[in-house]
Amino acid sequence: MTKKVVLSGMRPTGRLHIGHYSVLENWVRLQAEYNCYYAIVDWHALTTSYQETAGIKNNVKEMLVDWLAAGLDPEKSTIFVQSAVPQHAELHLMLSMIIPLSWLERVPTYKDQMQQLGKMGKDINTYGFLGYPLLQAADILVYRADAVPVGEDQLPHLELCREVARRFNHLYQPVFPEPAALLAELKLLPGVDGRKMSKSYHNVITLAAETAEIKKQVNAMITDPKRIRKTDLGNPDVCVVDKYQGIYLPASHQEIRQQCRQGTIGCMQCKKILTQALEALQAPLRERRHQILKRPGYLDEVLDAGAKKAGLAAQQTLAAVRAVVGI
Ligand code: TRP
Ligand code: SF4
Repeated sequence: MTKKVVLSGMRPTGRLHIGHYSVLENWVRLQAEYNCYYAIVDWHALTTSYQETAGIKNNVKEMLVDWLAAGLDPEKSTIFVQSAVPQHAELHLMLSMIIPLSWLERVPTYKDQMQQLGKMGKDINTYGFLGYPLLQAADILVYRADAVPVGEDQLPHLELCREVARRFNHLYQPVFPEPAALLAELKLLPGVDGRKMSKSYHNVITLAAETAEIKKQVNAMITDPKRIRKTDLGNPDVCVVDKYQGIYLPASHQEIRQQCRQGTIGCMQCKKILTQALEALQAPLRERRHQILKRPGYLDEVLDAGAKKAGLAAQQTLAAVRAVVGI
């Protein structure tokens, strides 16, 4: 029996943070059961960053190292850069012929994002940005993917993808399955300062972080401000350390919360426990990262092989598309 196909993608943002780890863990798990395609979607990066492209190539490489360090395996999965497989663009063009403009204009993220990014000085009142979700649909459909692991925020895009597939199949002949969402439970963590995790706030812990960074960021975590002495009764609900312990120390989480409330554990010691747990989790990733970076040419090999494999599958789809459309 042939395996079902999974596709997912990330925009190349450079090094990831530990908040991304749960997403990658899920991708890694799927490798055993599915024929997985994982794309670094650099054309999507262009839709919002066409004015500042200097960092894209480096961001692609940095993110790839993180993917591999987290356990994505090029022997099992097809790992590639979107722009190395031009069939994504060809299918995007074909689909652009059949998608009503209104479908794109009504995607909830569209006007929202345009305003948000507009405030930051980015003019994304462009053809490419309007087509962002259609390019995403092409990413998925070009491998005739059965399932797409995504976060909840991507559901409108996936729904659009399904609608486009349906319309194509109806207008011509059935070529595309309608891909299902594989919703993973997203473990949402705040940044160390309690705000949303964001590289630009410098409040994240990098994936595969060095020991010094883990220590520094755990020390910077906001704790219960009313607690001054160890014996002060604490409230873990207002503490960032507690949120991290909930995810990274599930076995002792409740006990530590109790000790905090009773004033039998100090914040220093509490942070030390978290630091040790994070260190234990990050050390193997860090080690793999270092190993990967020691092999010159390895990253290019992975991407070249991935693009070849992806290209073969994508060519077959495009041949079917051309045939049923009649060009
Ligand atoms: N839009 C997705 C995001 O911002 C990235 C993406 C592009 C994607 N193409 C995809 C995700 C295809 C899943 C499948 O996260
Ligand atoms: Fe936070 Fe731990 Fe201090 Fe309680 S003891 S406030 S959970 S750091």
